Amino acid sequence: MRRYFVGGNWKCNNTIAQTQSLINTVINKLVFDANKVEVAVAPIFLHVPWVQANIQKNVQVAVQNSSLTKMGAYTGEISVEHVKDLGIPWVILGHSERRQYYGESNEIVGKKTRLALDHQLSVMACVGEKLAERESGNTTQVIQAQLEAIKKELTTEQWSKVVVAYEPVWAIGTGKTASPEQAQDVHAFIRGWLRSQLGTQVEQATRIIYGGSVTEKNAADLIKQQDLDGFLVGGAALKPGFADIVAAAN
Ligand code: G3P
Repeated sequence: MRRYFVGGNWKCNNTIAQTQSLINTVINKLVFDANKVEVAVAPIFLHVPWVQANIQKNVQVAVQNSSLTKMGAYTGEISVEHVKDLGIPWVILGHSERRQYYGESNEIVGKKTRLALDHQLSVMACVGEKLAERESGNTTQVIQAQLEAIKKELTTEQWSKVVVAYEPVWAIGTGKTASPEQAQDVHAFIRGWLRSQLGTQVEQATRIIYGGSVTEKNAADLIKQQDLDGFLVGGAALKPGFADIVAAAN
C-alpha cells in the first residue's frame, strides 16, 4: 500500500519571521501518522538551515527547483552537492513556473532529475498541461512527453525515489482546481503509462500527487480518487488550513 505524500511548496514567499511563524504555529502542530502519510515542506533556500533546526522531526524538508548543477564556477547557482551536504532529502523539479519563466525544457528536467537521483535525493517530478493544451485535447500527449524525458534519463530502480506531481498549469494559483474526475483521469493515465513503460512494480509503488489550487475545502474529495496519492500544495501551504489538507490524507 502506497503511503500518501503531502508536499508544501512555499515558492518565493515568506520573510524569515513569516517562516518562523508558519513553522511554530502550523507545521510543528501537524498531527499525522507517518506510517500513513509523508509530509515535506519546501521553504526558500535561505531559510532551509533555520527550518531544519526548528521543524518537528517527522516533517521533511525539500528544496525547490534550482540549477542543481555541480559545485564550481557557476555564480548564483546551488549545486546538488550543497543540497546533499545540508542533508535535505527532497527536491521539487520540473515545476511549471521553472518551465515557464526559466526555460526549463523536458530535456533539462530529465537531466536534473537524473542528477538529483544520482546524488541520492528524492524527487517530486512535476508534469502538467497548459489550458490551451487541454482545450485542444492534447493533455495526455503533453504529460507523456514530460514523463518520457524523465524516463530516458533514469534506471528503473531510480523510480523508487520519484513522486510524480500532476499540476495542471491552468489550476496553479488560479483558484480553479481540477475536479476530482479531471484529476483522476490524468492520474489514471499516468498510472497506466508507468505500468506500460516501467512495469507493475513501479506502477504500484509510485505516488502520483495532485497540485493546483488544493485547499482544505477540496482536499477530502480529491484524495478519494483511486489514483491520487496526495498533494503538492502552494498557496494553502502557507496558511493554517495546510493542517486540514494533511489531515485529509491521514
Ligand atoms: O507546486 C504546487 C503549486 O504549483 C500549486 O500552487 O497555489 O495552486 O496550490 P497552488
